[in-house]
Amino acid sequence: MRRLFPSPLSPADLDDREWGPAELADLYAYPADLPAGTAWLRANMVSSLDGAAHHEGRSQPLSSAADMRIFGTLRGLADAVVVGAETVRQEGYRPARAREVFAARRAALGQGPAPVIAVVSAGLDLDFSLPLFTAPLVPTIVLTGADAPAERVAAARAAGAEVLVVAGEGPGVDVARVPGLLAGRGLTRLLTEGGPRLLGQFAAAGVLDEMCLSLAPVVATGTAPRIMAGPPLAVPERFALGSVLEDGGFLFTRYSRV
Ligand SMILES: NC(=O)c1ccc[n+]([C@@H]2O[C@H](COP(=O)([O-])OP(=O)(O)OC[C@H]3O[C@@H](n4cnc5c(N)ncnc54)[C@H](OP(=O)(O)O)[C@@H]3O)[C@@H](O)[C@H]2O)c1
Repeated sequence: MRRLFPSPLSPADLDDREWGPAELADLYAYPADLPAGTAWLRANMVSSLDGAAHHEGRSQPLSSAADMRIFGTLRGLADAVVVGAETVRQEGYRPARAREVFAARRAALGQGPAPVIAVVSAGLDLDFSLPLFTAPLVPTIVLTGADAPAERVAAARAAGAEVLVVAGEGPGVDVARVPGLLAGRGLTRLLTEGGPRLLGQFAAAGVLDEMCLSLAPVVATGTAPRIMAGPPLAVPERFALGSVLEDGGFLFTRYSRV
């Protein structure tokens, strides 16, 4: 892996070598100076060259070992991972692991051993017998809307999940309220892993602070969505490039909202 941007500080930066978790964690550290009670919402997604966000329903065919190292690092830095229910269903989400390499860093920041997974769902058609709900290190949160079926809410709670209703004007979750709600519970370093429909809503609501986009050197064609599929913004929002790493033809970019 090589750092392409910001410009290499020394010839060593251009060495193609494996970056350790601590180095990656330093590069991707959340802002240290967030105002009290404010969350920082970062997204991490992988795309093919032609913009596909999955191949036959999975993101794995677009990913690589280096992409998974960054994925794991971003989880290791987060207080909470916010994810759409379809991604949980398609990708078979499991609870986040506590990883020794991040333990000291997390403890120093007052974080628990692993991020909380927060699943966004309206219908709650989720398998609550899965370890994601029954055996996480930290109870999984289910974020739902005002029209959530009562018996599914009860099933989620019986499994051990914490169900929070984030109601707005519509029947589903008011995504604009999610960062503030989680920040109010002390979860300020937020990571969303999509999918495209949830991420599109976060971006359209103007609450996406940072985009970590992995560009995979593959072409998929087909009808898979791009990484955001939500209501259009009146004016495209500008992001500033923070860093670019390269590994095996993959580009690992990081952009922050201007
Ligand atoms: N390229 C990548 O990095 C990447 C990352 C993640 C996922 N993916 C891929 O993307 C696909 C899934 O993405 P997707 O866009 O179809 O789905 P998604 O965003 O993961 O989940 C959509 C579901 O989330 C819930 N949801 C979304 N917005 C909501 C709201 N405002 N209120 C209440 N519930 C809400 C609904 O769940 P209910 O139906 O339960 O009500 C909805 O059906 C998978 O194939 C996965 O492999 C790719």
